[in-house]
Amino acid sequence: MNIAVLASGRGTNLQALIDATEAGKISARIVLVVSDVESAYALQRAARHGIETRVLRPKEFPDRVRFEEEMVRVLRSRQVGLICLAGFMRILGSTVIENFRGRIMNIHPALLPSFPGLHGQRQALEYGVKISGCTVHFVDEGVDTGPIIIQAAVPVFSGDTEESLSSRILEQEHRIYPLAVQAFVEGRLKIEGRRVHFRGEESSRSGEVVLSPVPQQP
Ligand code: GAR
Repeated sequence: MNIAVLASGRGTNLQALIDATEAGKISARIVLVVSDVESAYALQRAARHGIETRVLRPKEFPDRVRFEEEMVRVLRSRQVGLICLAGFMRILGSTVIENFRGRIMNIHPALLPSFPGLHGQRQALEYGVKISGCTVHFVDEGVDTGPIIIQAAVPVFSGDTEESLSSRILEQEHRIYPLAVQAFVEGRLKIEGRRVHFRGEESSRSGEVVLSPVPQQP
């Protein structure tokens, strides 16, 4: 299966997916990395691993539909079977979603449906939750509302800053995103309404929720 990753920034989740494919933990190829930001470090990561890159700047298109039509054209031309959003800071519209329904995943740095949108970690900290985490979900037309594939829980400590919590969550993002992608590639994910089931006995117990080991509090 051919995978495309969409990223707007530094691309550590992209790196986790690249590493997992190179280690044989994801049995698919990342064939394309698309960014809406020319300076995104994610593009350099991709290039270093010999992965084709493409910059699509929305400003260069008359409207969002044309921008997304070009995106669909590029993705189709590479026979992409799964799109992974990895820090892609743009809401996808119906043009892309309808063309790839059930084939787009996103990683979000909070336990959805809590704290969707921007700055999930800051929202969690300001709200005062004791447990946050991250979520891999399928993408639908809403903002971070699609069916949840896998989540990891991360404790929030009283001394946490946005940075310390974000980095603890990020470790788990890097752990669960490849798991979700590999389950999809193996055809083990079944969407039933809002619920995503993992086929296969072993993963149906361990695949859907990952509890992060509690690190020693500083
Ligand atoms: C990650 O924490 C990801 O969960 C978040 O952006 C960061 C990208 O980091 N995504 C969102 O907030 C989407 N709403 P990365 O570029 O190092 O992968």
